[in-house]
Amino acid sequence: MAAKPRVLVTRRWPAAVEARLGEIFDVRLNTDDTPMRPEDFRAAMREYDAILPTVTDKIGPTALEVDSPQTRILANFGVGYSHVDLEQVNRHGIVLTNTPDVLSECTADLAMTLLLMVARRAGEGERELRAGKWTGWRPTHLVGTKVSGKTLGIVGYGRIGQEMAARAHHGFGMKILAYNRSPIAPEVLARCNATQVDSLDELMPLCDFISLHCPGGAENRHLINARRLGMMRSDAFLINTARGEVVDETALSQALWFDAIGGAGLDVFDGEPRINPSLRDCDKLVMLPHLGSATREAREAMGFRVIDNLEDFFAGRRPRDRVN
Ligand code: DGY
Repeated sequence: MAAKPRVLVTRRWPAAVEARLGEIFDVRLNTDDTPMRPEDFRAAMREYDAILPTVTDKIGPTALEVDSPQTRILANFGVGYSHVDLEQVNRHGIVLTNTPDVLSECTADLAMTLLLMVARRAGEGERELRAGKWTGWRPTHLVGTKVSGKTLGIVGYGRIGQEMAARAHHGFGMKILAYNRSPIAPEVLARCNATQVDSLDELMPLCDFISLHCPGGAENRHLINARRLGMMRSDAFLINTARGEVVDETALSQALWFDAIGGAGLDVFDGEPRINPSLRDCDKLVMLPHLGSATREAREAMGFRVIDNLEDFFAGRRPRDRVN
């Protein structure tokens, strides 16, 4: 019988998925659950047929500086892969897969959570209560913004963006404007009666809320910068559940401090888990620690999707979620 492929999992995964991986492959789990250092990653590239990384593994030139690696597939646990240097991965002829679809609903749920929290000042209210500062109900206390019927701009109308549009439109009667690099099919727009706008500059001033659902990486770094924040209405809100680097966080904190925008909700940060200190004390900001896909259902489905990709690969088939 042929030896089982050797597989390294870089973080702890849901128990059911780890158990299934162990039945199929020769698996090494990271029981410490700490992010891998580049030197450990390089050593792993010499030893394992497959490495199963996550967003916390920065797979750039340093981590990939290995001659003739043993690793033939990186099966990423997560849909976003801007932490992987695709050019270097391609140079080594390594296959990269991700886990789309299975986390779209949960990530959109969290984006909607942030939208509602910032509009209704839930973060401020919670902080006030915990600090023992609530003095009781009054007509002018923490008055927020109505969500129903407002205009939501969606940046990146892929799977998660469309789920966000569905929640906002069908649940809250919001008007949907979509900005996407490529044309959106009319039937996709029709599902939420959405309108595609031609440019991000056109979108910014038209919205009460803007929610980011585009990929990260160099090409979208600081897509939302001081100039574009300056185009938003002073009562509009920005939501980011995509990738931290998409927003210039220093410019965002300035916009919040000087009331140039109404507020923001962030689930992702540039260089996370480090948080730009200028963001910490912004009252009009709700911050969550990258929880977009953090449900039992989504995390298990992501793990099983990785297994599907590995089984395809080692059976000589093209993995369904191959991205390169
Ligand atoms: C994703 O799936 O991209 C999540 O943000 C975790 O990486």
